[in-house]
Amino acid sequence: MRDHLQFLAGFLRKPRTVGAVAPSSGRLAREVLRYSDLWHADTVVELGAGTGAITREILDYVNPRARVIVVELDERHAELLTRRFPEVTVCHDSAENLRRILRRCGCRRADVVVSGLPWASLPPPVCERITAEILASLKPDGRLCGFGYVHAVWHPAVRAFHERLRGNFAQVRISPVVWGNLPPAFAYSLAGPC
Ligand SMILES: C[S@@+](CC[C@H](N)C(=O)[O-])C[C@H]1O[C@@H](n2cnc3c(N)ncnc32)[C@H](O)[C@@H]1O
Repeated sequence: MRDHLQFLAGFLRKPRTVGAVAPSSGRLAREVLRYSDLWHADTVVELGAGTGAITREILDYVNPRARVIVVELDERHAELLTRRFPEVTVCHDSAENLRRILRRCGCRRADVVVSGLPWASLPPPVCERITAEILASLKPDGRLCGFGYVHAVWHPAVRAFHERLRGNFAQVRISPVVWGNLPPAFAYSLAGPC
């Protein structure tokens, strides 16, 4: 319940940046990670971790020797994540600086990028910069996983994001809709040469 209240407060402070009124459900988090092959990853990056609904699941599936880096723009969420997940490197920063963040952490590229970002509500230039950073930060055989809200699939920013990504990944997997999530959402997993 505390997570839900903190998340809602974050939404009320910055609705476009947070993009949802509640953290992802466990069911959606598991769909997001279903094809992420976390066990074989050395470096896992999560963008827009919020209160850690997906971070928790990542830590359940990741190999203990892997480096997990979380990037969160909201200061209060970043503080909570730092306290809650001491085994994770939490960066209070924007995903727009992903390459710089990885360098600062002593990593070159990521095996898996997990996105919790609300693409439909972010300004298009921000989406464009983050997409470019993700593509430049993944290993050639890396994976990008995330989720989209059903009500936003026809949003122009989301469609532009999908087009851009489809051209860069050979394998695209979309999950069934998780109706129990608030709001209902589907997970995507992209892999192949990028
Ligand atoms: C829809 S919430 C998802 C939170 C969490 N991943 C979940 O599934 O419950 C989006 C999160 O992305 C963060 N965010 C938005 N823009 C960001 C950016 N440019 N860089 C890093 N985090 C960002 C917001 O602060 C918020 O915590």
